[in-house]
Amino acid sequence: MPLAATDDVNAIEAPVTFKAYLMCAFASFGGIFFGYDSGYINGVLGSREFITAIQGADADEISESNTSLIVSILSAGTFFGALIAGDLADRFGRRWTIISGCGIYIAGVVVQMFAASALATIVMGRLLAGFGVGFVSAIIILYMSEICPRKIRGALVSGYQFAITIGLMLAAIINNFTSDLEGGGASYRIPIGIQFAWGLILGIGLFFLPDSPRYFVKRGKLDKARDVLVRLRGQPADSKLVEVELAEIVANAEAEARAMPTDTWFGSWAACFSGSVFDSSSNLRRTILGTSLQMMQQWTGVNFIFYYSTPFLQSTGAIDDAFLTSMIFTIVNVCSTPISFYTVEKFGRRPLLIWGACGMMICQFLTAIIGVTVGFNKTFVNAAGETLATNVSAVNAQVAFIAIFIFFFASTWGPGAWVLIGEIFPLPIRSRGVALSTASNWLWNTIIAVITPYMVGSNRGNLRSSVFFVWGGLCSCAFVYAYFLVPETKGLSLEQVDQLFAETTPRKSSRWRPTRTYAAEKREQYPSHDGSGDNFADPSAPKGKYGNEGEVSHLA
Ligand code: BGC
Repeated sequence: MPLAATDDVNAIEAPVTFKAYLMCAFASFGGIFFGYDSGYINGVLGSREFITAIQGADADEISESNTSLIVSILSAGTFFGALIAGDLADRFGRRWTIISGCGIYIAGVVVQMFAASALATIVMGRLLAGFGVGFVSAIIILYMSEICPRKIRGALVSGYQFAITIGLMLAAIINNFTSDLEGGGASYRIPIGIQFAWGLILGIGLFFLPDSPRYFVKRGKLDKARDVLVRLRGQPADSKLVEVELAEIVANAEAEARAMPTDTWFGSWAACFSGSVFDSSSNLRRTILGTSLQMMQQWTGVNFIFYYSTPFLQSTGAIDDAFLTSMIFTIVNVCSTPISFYTVEKFGRRPLLIWGACGMMICQFLTAIIGVTVGFNKTFVNAAGETLATNVSAVNAQVAFIAIFIFFFASTWGPGAWVLIGEIFPLPIRSRGVALSTASNWLWNTIIAVITPYMVGSNRGNLRSSVFFVWGGLCSCAFVYAYFLVPETKGLSLEQVDQLFAETTPRKSSRWRPTRTYAAEKREQYPSHDGSGDNFADPSAPKGKYGNEGEVSHLA
């Protein structure tokens, strides 16, 4: 159905159908990979059979260097996987990139499962699986942001974070059940083998989902983009609502493409860093924003809890079952995340990050202060030579504040950082921008995983719970950062977010409302001869990269 010149994307929007919910919600399943893979190795490293297989029967534990290699090789693979995936997603589509990520991941799992008894093969397997996780973790966010209806995009992308938390919790539970199994390497082969299921479910499920309409627009396949929008929005084939949405995506893609310096491989990477650092709408600024958002998310110190809470709690001598307490942290993480489904759309991304940083900062400083005065850091050695806490109640209070910190993280920065990186990049650099931001998450994840044992351990930095002064300090940075640099993108289409960057500043962004559409601007810039709004009826009007002859003539 042709559009009238007065049609406005702000006035009409396809209603959100149950099917749309389901399709987008399924994609969030990719988060399970992320969470499970981060979590399962914790338990496997402590498995007696695994220690024997890697270090020999005499060893009590995996050596520090092997632990570090086995843990960090996944993140290394993920880092590179995420970077490469951005390119593939533009060339072969978001969906196929994720499906091939699942394939690579499954291959990595098979190597680990059948050959986990030697260091070289477990390392190879985790490197390969990490590569697959990199594909999935970078492109799922891109894919979800591009297919979700704008009104519930934040909530649905938060579903990805929810899946991460479930993955972490499942890993903790499965480790608990398998750690004492004996015979045939079951104690480590089972947690490793279970990963197989995640790859299979996501890979097969994606065969039934369409690719992103924005990918098809980028490739100039407008008919396909229209078909996909019809499916995703649950509208009839000649829906005007779909035409309006497509017109805006096309016009924005053309406007952005005109601003792109070049279309070559090198040029499009360079485009991620183009523009001035002082221009808040430049690609460079948005790349810095995306990568620093993920860096800040890691700086909150959340993975100190998820990677090291068990040995850390054991070292206090006040917690009877450190494993159980760690599992409770993962449960708090799971239960708090759904709060964000509501708040990210009701209050927006900015307040979530500002107040979340504030809440986390308070909890961490309190944990640190109690620690140096009466809690974790005050211990004595009993007659049996054990190190025990002098004040058990104070340690319990610290554990409670850590749980509240997890609550704040899970309901704010956990989902918020992922939601935002899917929204802030213009289409020509979106896949690479999201990939770079995801790679930054994994890079900082690895750096923090590697350095924290040195900061906390008694033989090294011996910070003990004073490490929370460091996390509290970094959360203060996150607070200032969110206040000055994070824009409000709630309820806007990805094309409107583009305008927001050009027309306002992060601090004023909550009050900004779109007044124009790319489609309307294009109509004004290239008015048609007959007043039908058909720009392409004018032979002097640029056809545009995405305006393949005739196909979009009634859209623009
Ligand atoms: C972070 C992970 C973290 C997880 C905890 C994610 O958003 O990126 O590093 O382990 O949240 O739920």
